[in-house]
Amino acid sequence: MKIKKAIIPAAGLGTRVLPASKSCPKEMLPIVDKPAIQYIVEEAVKAGITDILIITNRGKGIIEDHFDHSVELENMLEKRGRTDTLEELNNLANMANIYYLRQKETRGLGDAVLRAKQFVGDEPFAVLYGDDVIIGEVPAIGELIAAYETFGKSVVGIKEVPDELVVKYSSLKTERIDNMNYNVTDMIEKPSLETKFSNFSVLGRCVLDNEIFQILEKTPLGAGNELQLTDAMATIARTKGMIGVEFSGTRYDMGNKFGILKANIEVGLSHPETRDQLKEYIKEIAKTL
Ligand code: UTP
Repeated sequence: MKIKKAIIPAAGLGTRVLPASKSCPKEMLPIVDKPAIQYIVEEAVKAGITDILIITNRGKGIIEDHFDHSVELENMLEKRGRTDTLEELNNLANMANIYYLRQKETRGLGDAVLRAKQFVGDEPFAVLYGDDVIIGEVPAIGELIAAYETFGKSVVGIKEVPDELVVKYSSLKTERIDNMNYNVTDMIEKPSLETKFSNFSVLGRCVLDNEIFQILEKTPLGAGNELQLTDAMATIARTKGMIGVEFSGTRYDMGNKFGILKANIEVGLSHPETRDQLKEYIKEIAKTL
């Protein structure tokens, strides 16, 4: 079955990027000239997704404004003959069918995904975490969808991370299948170094069979007293098995300050409007470090 629906959970509190995220959702923080969530929507659309549900909460209305028309702005751009920018804004408002649903209490990523049960119906679906931007030649979620089609099992996007990060993310029990794909037979959220399976973590992308909803409904609260998506996926990994795809792009964690800086520097170094100036600037500043 072709995967056409995606969920972008964007209802977290973003405490690690306060005060920036107090009144501007971290998903709306810019990387050069676009907010993080726009890169994520573009990735989904490139991979053939047509319907996207963004899970929001109080104070995140500007996400809705961003993917809507701004008639006043568009009229002004038309009058001034700024056709390129006008076209860019029009494309932005017409990229996909985007729906919004509020998570009324911040009860964890698993709970945010569970809110999407009605939207998803009985199809498999993609999840793209709202603060994980992945930049690459091919859309990372497309690589996961391809694996879902090949192996017929739920899929997680994975990378090896250092010990100091594995304890903050998750750890997977894996067996290599080929150069990009792994069998995943167990996983644990926020392990200690004693309980970790490996340094492979789930990073921001999954493709899930809708059985996840029944499992989430029965999953007890986990780490941080939140409903953890990892705990529900662990049930699938242990029973049917899952596939881990070591996606090819570079992932930027927009949920922490250094991740935001790295994303801006690296994307800025390849953006036609900023790359030359930024390169010179970095070379100059490096001399003083
Ligand atoms: P994080 O684990 O980064 O949580 O969420 P957070 O609350 O946003 O951040 P900190 O730890 O307070 O800094 C991963 C993704 O899941 C979403 C977030 O918006 C983010 O995109 N999320 C998290 C929800 O949608 N709802 C939740 O209850 C928790």
